[in-house]
Amino acid sequence: MENKKEVLLSLKNAKTYFPIKKGVMKKTVGYVKAVDDVTIDIYKGETLGLVGESGCGKTTLGKSILQLINSTGGEMLYNFGGNIGVKNLKKLTSAEMKLARKRLQIVFQDPQSSLNPAFTIFGSLEDPLKQNGVAKREDRRKIIGDLLEQVNMRSEYMDRYPNEFSGGQRQRIGIARALSVEPELIICDEAVSALDVSIQAQVLNLLKELKEKKNLTYIFITHDLSVVEYISDRIAVMYLGKIVEIADAEALYENTLHPYTKALLSAIPVADLDKKSKRIVLEGDVPSPAKPPSGCTFHPRCKNCMDRCKTDIPALKKYMVDGKEHFVACHLMEEQQQATPLSEQS
Ligand SMILES: Nc1ncnc2c1ncn2[C@@H]1O[C@H](COP(=O)(O)OP(=O)(O)OP(=O)(O)O)[C@@H](O)[C@H]1O
Ligand SMILES: [Mg+2]
Repeated sequence: MENKKEVLLSLKNAKTYFPIKKGVMKKTVGYVKAVDDVTIDIYKGETLGLVGESGCGKTTLGKSILQLINSTGGEMLYNFGGNIGVKNLKKLTSAEMKLARKRLQIVFQDPQSSLNPAFTIFGSLEDPLKQNGVAKREDRRKIIGDLLEQVNMRSEYMDRYPNEFSGGQRQRIGIARALSVEPELIICDEAVSALDVSIQAQVLNLLKELKEKKNLTYIFITHDLSVVEYISDRIAVMYLGKIVEIADAEALYENTLHPYTKALLSAIPVADLDKKSKRIVLEGDVPSPAKPPSGCTFHPRCKNCMDRCKTDIPALKKYMVDGKEHFVACHLMEEQQQATPLSEQS
């Protein structure tokens, strides 16, 4: 992958703001800047981990990519290949949108909420197939049976109801459903966070296996730093709607550069055998994304805060660390190292 990196999705200054409305007239009095100027390339075949504290905009970014939420600005360029080529996901024709709905899928934390309790698994999984032209019921049964086997479940389970399964099994059904339309990019939003540690490992291994078999690309959203280290090729760290650090998974843990990432890593709960999945808790509260601090939004919580951090927004810049690309948005790094701004990179 190192030598031949093909960009699948390129986010350029992506922004998603939610208006804050007040009063009887519902006047817009401000915006929650849930995703604020995110620029990142996602390569074909990689697993990009996306981490950060609760409320930093991970889910909003995922849903904005899938066009489940209207974004406010920027571009989301997706490489469809073939004669369609690269298209902005925000400006697709309805035929292209139909294709995008197949190519991009999401797996949520709680599959219970996305599986209708009144339907059997077959009933829940057959809709996307119908929409994609699998007209015969027996063909749909065959495909769904095969899908269940691919996620290590028995094909006859398709006639059971969601409440007859454990959390881990339901999550595997959620994955089977995402796979049913033969996607390229799957956004896993806290896909294993609700599971017990041993079941988490099974589902993570299944995701890894399926990725190899089906040439998938994952954006893996989680607040669990041990999970993200295990599954990711690269990791992007988000803080208050912005990406503050991106590096290969190993490099991020070995050469952590951003003070926020350092704080996150030092907050990993140690040897807690009883843990399901812990929220990251750092000192000081996360400021409101409706009123983000000036300059570097992390400055009120940063031990290394300098004067310019209070006024200037640091850009995400590339550094070479041990011969590897490492992106950081931090004034301290700029003063210590030679950086190349993203805009000047080829
Ligand atoms: N539909 C909405 N309307 C208004 N504000 C929203 C909406 N959805 C999310 N937000 C706000 O946007 C910010 C980012 O939320 P988001 O759900 O993306 O965070 P997250 O990183 O996924 O958090 P978590 O780890 O808790 O899932 C939060 O401040 C949240 O309150
Ligand atoms: Mg979320």
